[in-house]
Amino acid sequence: MIRLEKVSKVYFMGDVEIRALDSVDLEIARGEFLSIMGPSGSGKSTLLNILGVLDKPSEGSYFLEDVDITLLKDRELAKVRNQHFGFIFQSYNLFPELTAVENVMVPLAYAGTPRRERRERAEHLLASVDMDHRFNHLPTQLSGGEQQRVAIARALANDPTLILADEPTGNLATDQGAEIMEILQKLNENGTTIVIVTHDPAISTYGKRLVRLRDGAIANDEVKEGARHA
Ligand SMILES: Nc1ncnc2c1ncn2[C@@H]1O[C@H](COP(=O)(O)OP(=O)(O)O)[C@@H](O)[C@H]1O
Ligand SMILES: [Mg+2]
Repeated sequence: MIRLEKVSKVYFMGDVEIRALDSVDLEIARGEFLSIMGPSGSGKSTLLNILGVLDKPSEGSYFLEDVDITLLKDRELAKVRNQHFGFIFQSYNLFPELTAVENVMVPLAYAGTPRRERRERAEHLLASVDMDHRFNHLPTQLSGGEQQRVAIARALANDPTLILADEPTGNLATDQGAEIMEILQKLNENGTTIVIVTHDPAISTYGKRLVRLRDGAIANDEVKEGARHA
């Protein structure tokens, strides 16, 4: 599904060059559940943002279904992003003034879902993450785990082929984090490809494959023992 070839990301701070990613080759097949680990500053978020087309490589190629998307215009990239990807962040990133159901309706509006269908679909998505009792709560009225479940429902709104999650359990208590990972695991069993960045070895055990980054490069890439391959 995805192939990165010699992807680098370089930042300049004054005269100083920072290689956040250094010539990364990475292939991700449909149905994978990939965990990315590595020390702070090793390039995990940079890699995830490039995979999700939130950021562009400085060098190298990104093939999505054999199309080099580094050659696309910004408007076309936005379309690719909306059609293919769902994002989950450590701090949930919900709109604070919108209720749970309204938050999930936002990407449906962008995708052009008819107004009368949005609420019904949003409620259905919230129910799928066991949030059917919290439709009209604001983010501040929800626990961290509940906010993250709303964020997952929102990420699922446009039926993504790939879910990208940057430390999705980083702000959660262990039991709430496990609930989030079980939801992601179930989505993966139903065919959604998942890439997750985590600091936590326990969280990485949910994945079927583990990539370790060090200094912007892949230090290790292994399929987990006993992991099933799609
Ligand atoms: N916008 C930026 N400008 C300058 N340097 C950056 C920027 N974003 C990230 N970096 C640097 O790139 C490296 C990798 O960052 P990041 O991908 O956020 O690491 P991680 O998520 O593994 O902690 C770090 O050294 C970081 O300081
Ligand atoms: Mg990070």
